[in-house]
Amino acid sequence: MGWRDAARRLVLADVPPQRVVWNLEDVPDLFGGDELPEVQGSFPVPRPFVELAGDVVLHSDPERFALLYRILWRVRRTSDLLEDLTDRDISRANLMAKNVRRDIHKMHAFVRFREAGDGRMVAWFEPEHHVIEAGAPFFARRFPNMEWSILSPYVSAHWDGAALSFGPGAGRQAAPDGDALEKIWRCYYSSIFNPARLKVRAMQSEMPRKYWRNLPEADLIAPLIANARKRTDTMVAHGITEPKSNRQREIPKAAPPVSEKRGTLEALREEARGCRMCPLWKPATQTVFGEGPSQAKIMFVGEQPGDREDLAGQPFVGPAGQVFDRALQEIGLDRSRAYITNAVKHFKFTPRGKMRLHQKPNAMEIRLCRPWLEREIYLVQPKLIVALGATAVQGLFGRALPIATNRGRFLDLAEAQVLITVHPSYLLRVPDEGRKAEEYARFVEDLTLARDALNAA
Ligand code: URA
Repeated sequence: MGWRDAARRLVLADVPPQRVVWNLEDVPDLFGGDELPEVQGSFPVPRPFVELAGDVVLHSDPERFALLYRILWRVRRTSDLLEDLTDRDISRANLMAKNVRRDIHKMHAFVRFREAGDGRMVAWFEPEHHVIEAGAPFFARRFPNMEWSILSPYVSAHWDGAALSFGPGAGRQAAPDGDALEKIWRCYYSSIFNPARLKVRAMQSEMPRKYWRNLPEADLIAPLIANARKRTDTMVAHGITEPKSNRQREIPKAAPPVSEKRGTLEALREEARGCRMCPLWKPATQTVFGEGPSQAKIMFVGEQPGDREDLAGQPFVGPAGQVFDRALQEIGLDRSRAYITNAVKHFKFTPRGKMRLHQKPNAMEIRLCRPWLEREIYLVQPKLIVALGATAVQGLFGRALPIATNRGRFLDLAEAQVLITVHPSYLLRVPDEGRKAEEYARFVEDLTLARDALNAA
């Protein structure tokens, strides 16, 4: 029986808190050996109590059930009890709730999935409180396309791509130890570490030592701290970097090359076939790499392959591709002379029955895919790149730029000029037919700018 049902029965039978001993299975024993009363009915409970109890019940303190029952008993007699922060029961419960919420936050921040070998991603996490069930839905929203498990000593959470389930706890040895994803975490962690902002105490309270042993990046912490002074001195010696104007901005060099080999587009395409840099590869049919002449003067960058592109292995062959083709034809730009690619090379989707619903790639996925795009640009050396929509802009510039205000402008990257416009699938989504026609005409105008710039180059 759960705490709620037992507490309801006890309140309705008017059993005072001092007559109840709560054991860890949250089934109470009554002093005097009475059976728990069989009472039907309900009574109103203030919402703030329900919220507080929802957190406190997850705390690992064995006293939590007794404390909550005492507060419930008292709140029925003193309706503003929860507002009395000087009350010992209330301040203790608030502190426990705060610790539980903090533990959930730590779970969200410090769970690290590793390849289990059977295609599942498995993480080991040891929370201080009983937060696995409360913390797991976050990962279902975050990694809907991945099959994963989070193991802990008390309970395990499993996501099969459609539903969350919970099972018994497991030992640490049931979770894998290390895999290629660790490289990504380590690289990510070193790249976000800012030596000039180092506050060791704050960092340790945000990332307490007890979590370190499960974090692939943990052994970077000591050398990064040790090196911080030297790196800060170097930053100071280099002086202030003046912000560049939009026209001067270049592709930031933060993304590591996927490999050091430069080679040919064909070799790069072959290499990208096996990309496992982020979990999107797994449910996708294949890597959809760019296509077009290796010396194309113009490159179009879209978001990511859609359902049709994923099956065909070619970019822009589905509905958005048809709008794109029509616009190219209208301005007399021959698609076969352009290089066409995407910022993200795998299709990201949520399964819905037989359908696969498109999902927008997130910043991490765009960032992890960026080395492929950089190397396509390096090899093709186009004079002009057309960024189709926000993801393309983020992939090219390494950060978001508003489309509405930058549309139709030419911005400079290191290797080429970039013209920003909307993504053709946006045109498919405009509901009003009149507006759709207007938006399409604007898109054609943008492409005309690109064509004219190319002819003038
Ligand atoms: N949308 C894109 O961004 N790219 C494609 O290849 C298809 C649709």
